[in-house]
Amino acid sequence: VEHVWDFRALAEQLLAAPLPTRWAHTQGVGREAERIAFIVGDDADLLIQAAWLHDIGYAPDLNKAGFHPLDGARYLRDEVRADALLCRLVAHHSFALNEARRRGLAEQLAEEFPPVQGLLLDALTCCDMTTSPTGEPVTVEARLDEIASRYGEGDIVAESIAESREAILASVQAVQSTIADTPSSD
Ligand SMILES: [Fe+2]
Repeated sequence: VEHVWDFRALAEQLLAAPLPTRWAHTQGVGREAERIAFIVGDDADLLIQAAWLHDIGYAPDLNKAGFHPLDGARYLRDEVRADALLCRLVAHHSFALNEARRRGLAEQLAEEFPPVQGLLLDALTCCDMTTSPTGEPVTVEARLDEIASRYGEGDIVAESIAESREAILASVQAVQSTIADTPSSD
């Protein structure tokens, strides 16, 4: 399983039937990654693959630690034998470490999957954070507000996203300014 299209099929196989809404979101994130992948140059395929795979840890068959970035990355590492950087991107998308800390999983996450930084991770986080739960493009502010209200005050996800808010906004800003500065090749 190496090509972009195979990863898309894998995500569909894992998510479409048990979690159709999550699959709709994933398709939106994947399409957005395809749209902006030119900004990461040679890492374009990696970004697109990570986008299609970022939420597979929600699949019932994969949900073992109860934390989808870790479950998804472990599956990719152990079952798919995916590229290490692809696993790390999935493990750390959208500042997962902040939620991992609240769940007592930060050390496991960071030891198994060394944190990634830079435009590639920013781009993945941006695609996730500008796509609604049903796969529509949304502003990052609307997305952050939606997560806060969906999970509710005091919830681990809501608190983690609140902690990550400024970093998420900075990721989206970095991506948008790179898009503005990058001549698109066609
Ligand atoms: Fe997502």
